[in-house]
Amino acid sequence: MTNRIFTLTDQDGKSSEFAVQEGTHGPGCISISDLYAKTGCFTYDPGFGATGSCKSSISFINGEEGILLHRGYPIDQLAEKSSYLELCYLLLNGELPSETEFAEFDSSIKLHTMVHENIRDFINGFRYDAHPMAMLVGTVGALSSFYHDSLDISNPEHRQTSAHRLIAKLPTIASYCYRHHRGLPFMYPDNNLGYVDNFMQMMFSVPAQDYKHSSTAARALEVMMILHADHEQNASTSTVRLAGSSGANPFASIAAGIASLWGPAHGGANEAVINMLDSIYNSGETIETTIARAKDKNDPFRLMGFGHRVYKNFDPRAKIIAGLCHELLDELGGDQPMFDLALELEQATLADDYFKERRLYPNVDFYSGIILRALNIPMNMFTVMFAMARTVGWISHWLEMHHDPEFRIGRPRQIYIGHAKRDYPG
Ligand code: ACO
Repeated sequence: MTNRIFTLTDQDGKSSEFAVQEGTHGPGCISISDLYAKTGCFTYDPGFGATGSCKSSISFINGEEGILLHRGYPIDQLAEKSSYLELCYLLLNGELPSETEFAEFDSSIKLHTMVHENIRDFINGFRYDAHPMAMLVGTVGALSSFYHDSLDISNPEHRQTSAHRLIAKLPTIASYCYRHHRGLPFMYPDNNLGYVDNFMQMMFSVPAQDYKHSSTAARALEVMMILHADHEQNASTSTVRLAGSSGANPFASIAAGIASLWGPAHGGANEAVINMLDSIYNSGETIETTIARAKDKNDPFRLMGFGHRVYKNFDPRAKIIAGLCHELLDELGGDQPMFDLALELEQATLADDYFKERRLYPNVDFYSGIILRALNIPMNMFTVMFAMARTVGWISHWLEMHHDPEFRIGRPRQIYIGHAKRDYPG
């Protein structure tokens, strides 16, 4: 490949050259770290829409073509052939595990599924009506006060132990946040079970009776977790990198990512989908009037679960999850008015010129809310589920950052628009 150079010329004719750095896939990036030295200016890019913040070999998205790769493997192949835990290994280590490597990884994760008894007390200290995300962000941050033996970020063994602890403990903590909220006793993890089955048992079983869930339900949850495991440099992942860039410990860095995910523009969208479907259903509004409102520029209403900042084609994750939705709801049987409504809305928008011209397709959140509801997971737990699945992505990026020879503390610049320098009165 030819080495591309961009030349920037100012009004006095002074030119500066900037090399383009190319990746394996995707657009190149103009390297501007010496921009200020050469031109006396910084760049201005609110929302970082045109800015590459790092080099990464973990995930790749092609939004135009609807492609998502993890370590080079297409998401549809991973969803069909892999397991969540195997994907965790792949994201963390870069390659799929051999049988022995997987067995070692699995037992290391199982070794760490329990939490210190005082963490259970810590969660019990939250008010009865605390939001599960509030408990999650606080508890994950608090892990750094329990596991001092793995906090030396310059030690690769410590980094790995912390990564395994986070992946292992998130389901336990997530289930405890739910159980505290519902006034149910905390269930200990059962290491005879797989990662997802264990989580479902900690969520839904009670000590008084046996618990069993359907394999379709467990597979639906597992695939949902695979689909949410990583997604390149999104807001929460970038937050983890920025927090971690100062040398913050992994538990504090992941807690920062959870805080970022909590926002409705990021992790809260699937909850918004269910609220929208509920409100359409309860108001008796038709699909036609709902779509007309979404198209009306004088009405702020938007169809939740449609469109994506990066995907301008069908979100590849949405294709997979739509199939899962059908399977799960078929198995559950009975009347599913919410899902029928969702399907009607999906079909109507796919045939509508407004949505076609703007390339607005149903996104992963359109379907994930429906699946989570079918699994009896309450709406205020939706973002917790997302955080549990995404923890491996966050920690993989945090680990990658610590291996990066170009890694520096993140410190963006600004355009100062406040008062010019002035004297204090008197
Ligand atoms: N319903 C109706 N119209 C829409 C929608 C929607 N959901 N999304 C975009 N549009 C229209 C806009 O009004 C605009 O129309 P115009 O060109 O006539 O002005 C055009 O499509 C482009 O919209 P933008 O806001 O510029 O698109 P952008 O890429 O910035 O926004 C976003 C993406 C925020 C996801 C948007 O589509 C949206 O608000 N969707 C609903 C919320 C949602 O589902 N969020 C989850 C995203 S997935 C995730 O985060 C995991």
